[in-house]
Amino acid sequence: MSNILEFNEQNLAIAADTIKNGGLVAFPTETVYGLGADSYNAQAVAQIFAAKGRPTFNPLISHIAEIDMLKELAVPDSRALALATKFWPGPLTFILPRKEANSALDLVCAGLPNISVRMPNHQIALALIRASGTPIAAPSANRSQTISPTTAQHVADSLGVNVDIILDGGACKVGVESTIVDLTTKDVVILRAGGIPKENLESFLGEKVLLSHGNPELPTSPGQMLKHYAPKLSTRINVVPSERQADEFFIGFGDMDCDLNLSLKGDTTEAAANLFAYMHLAEAQTSYPKIAIAPIPDSGLGLAINDRIRRAAYKD
Ligand code: TXA
Ligand code: MG
Repeated sequence: MSNILEFNEQNLAIAADTIKNGGLVAFPTETVYGLGADSYNAQAVAQIFAAKGRPTFNPLISHIAEIDMLKELAVPDSRALALATKFWPGPLTFILPRKEANSALDLVCAGLPNISVRMPNHQIALALIRASGTPIAAPSANRSQTISPTTAQHVADSLGVNVDIILDGGACKVGVESTIVDLTTKDVVILRAGGIPKENLESFLGEKVLLSHGNPELPTSPGQMLKHYAPKLSTRINVVPSERQADEFFIGFGDMDCDLNLSLKGDTTEAAANLFAYMHLAEAQTSYPKIAIAPIPDSGLGLAINDRIRRAAYKD
């Protein structure tokens, strides 16, 4: 029996009750599907780590539907509030100092003095948070070290019965995870490139935004771990069409011969929306034992795409 539920009032109520009772609900956001639990329920949050097979308790993003929820969880300064006004709801996550010592949030924050918060731009996600009456902690709804899910079926294939309910909202529009910015320091530092381009943050703030490549052994943002977005097949990146090997499934970008094209017109936003679905397809096909991906420019969402595919191509 499938645990995928279409979105309607009745199923929303069932999903919200599941969250309130400490269960796990996978839900769509504009970036990728999240595996959600009540941020304040440490036992439910622990279930997330178990379901994902996450080896360590990495901190999780708390998803909120109103700005008041931010002030309940964190201590936002004027810069954070300005960014929230401009970019929320949207694919931007803030790292901020935690509000006092609320020990119920210890697991969601993995014991850190900071908390990460985001308001997703998706009606189903916002409705679920409101109906549950609590911030929802949610990593991407996939087994640890596999490709992030952009459809309900991806979630079902990856997590199976480890998730109580999957709310179906169709394919995610942005397709790569949120941009994570550390707002605890004087400079704004991107810990993970994502759905909001660096350029957009810089033009709004009127200052340079730094990009942390982190220490892969000791990640500030465990999304920085090199082997994170791993397809099952060996993957090469920056492969121009003339260098594609006969045993490689070729994912193209721009006008070229390939098996799947991220964006024929060379648009990084369109490419981001297709990325994970195409990686899932590349992994599932049986004609080629390997994957190759064409070069993608670093501008716009290209920074986030290149970050993900670099990790996909990483060999230990
Ligand atoms: O788009 C997204 O951000 C999706 C959707 C579901 O919202 N969520 C997502 O979560 O990608 P996850 O857990 O797969 O990635 C969140 C990253 C992790 O690498 C985590 O280590 C980092 O954010 N992170 C969370 N809280 C943090 C904190 N307090 N300090 C540093 N890094 C943190
Ligand atoms: Mg993830």
